[in-house]
Amino acid sequence: MTSIGLPHPRVPESRDAPSLRWGIMGPGWIAERFTESIQAHTGQVIAAVGSRSLNRSKAFAEAFDIPAAYGSYEELAAAPDVDIVYVCTPHTGHHAAAVLAIDAGKHVLVEKPVGLDAAQAGDIAARAEAAGVFAAEAMWTFFLPKFDVIRQILDAGTLGTITTVVAEYGEHFDPSHRIFNPDLAGGPLLDLGTYPLALVTEVLGSPRYLWAVGQPHESGVNAQLSAIMQFDGGAQAVVNTHVHNFTPTAATIVGSKATLVIDGPFNMPGAFEIRFPDGSRLRHDEPAGGHFEGLHYEAAAVARAIAAGSTQSSERTLAASIRTLEVADEIRRQLGVVFPVPVTLLPSKENHE
Ligand SMILES: NC(=O)c1ccc[n+]([C@@H]2O[C@H](COP(=O)([O-])OP(=O)(O)OC[C@H]3O[C@@H](n4cnc5c(N)ncnc54)[C@H](OP(=O)(O)O)[C@@H]3O)[C@@H](O)[C@H]2O)c1
Repeated sequence: MTSIGLPHPRVPESRDAPSLRWGIMGPGWIAERFTESIQAHTGQVIAAVGSRSLNRSKAFAEAFDIPAAYGSYEELAAAPDVDIVYVCTPHTGHHAAAVLAIDAGKHVLVEKPVGLDAAQAGDIAARAEAAGVFAAEAMWTFFLPKFDVIRQILDAGTLGTITTVVAEYGEHFDPSHRIFNPDLAGGPLLDLGTYPLALVTEVLGSPRYLWAVGQPHESGVNAQLSAIMQFDGGAQAVVNTHVHNFTPTAATIVGSKATLVIDGPFNMPGAFEIRFPDGSRLRHDEPAGGHFEGLHYEAAAVARAIAAGSTQSSERTLAASIRTLEVADEIRRQLGVVFPVPVTLLPSKENHE
């Protein structure tokens, strides 16, 4: 990682973070990536896994050498040897799963989006506060060393007055993917769109005005949406997200003194550049990386925060998560996208084996 002329990342070594005993709730795709990254890069312990099916949790436990496997989320929440539950069910289950863990006195790290909407996110925040447990959204981008450098650049005013943020996120999915399932709150908004929306709200706050257009998908979910926003002071943001195909997934933050261009995928480890009007550039060079290289930072940061007695993460506060979801809610309102009542905690067929 080289960044001549730029601030250095202040993120400590993940391996040095105090160790927590983690319980995985919902052993799917991201649970595998999280577990691989944590086991390779940290001293965190994946102590247990809970699935709606005992067979699936046993298979996951065997694959990752995890000592305890439970056949229900309730049992995982109640497990005595677990300090923190990582909620990684589909979006529709995040709120109920987080509440289950909080009610059992466990800390929670909830995959993004922390809830289906701002109301669910606010409820999780209120319940965690009342219970005195830690809660955060696993918006891993903001825990990456590169984002710590970006934060320092923004705080130092190197870009001048921010006028514009442009960010997009498109991806191709197999037709069987849950993103095409309306019952699981499918569509690009909560899976992909959360990244550009989180970036925009992190840099510019809450928009004063927002206009959105959408395009439906034959599966019944939204296929594509674009939103333009205006903020107090005149700054603007433009966001596009869709499930049509892969895109550069780039992000640009424009200021009166310089422009920050983040290589795609902007939400993952990788390079960025500051470009000045005279043609000079400052480059943060970092190999592009994926979940394996990046997810451990959020786990280590959460472990440090909890050891320090914090109930929230400074990298991604629940207020920031709620603010992002308020924007997502407004986009959905304008597009007429309605999400289902959460169904995730209903037992699956395998539960009756
Ligand atoms: N941070 C990132 O980069 C990233 C990347 C991908 C996804 N995510 C987030 O992580 C969450 C999970 O995504 P994923 O791609 O890992 O999903 P996934 O592969 O479908 O896995 C989700 C797991 O949740 C459980 N589950 C509970 N209720 C379910 C239901 N009604 N239908 C299907 N599965 C259900 C299933 O495990 P059991 O039935 O065995 O309990 C399933 O394996 C999403 O909210 C997504 O936004 C984050």
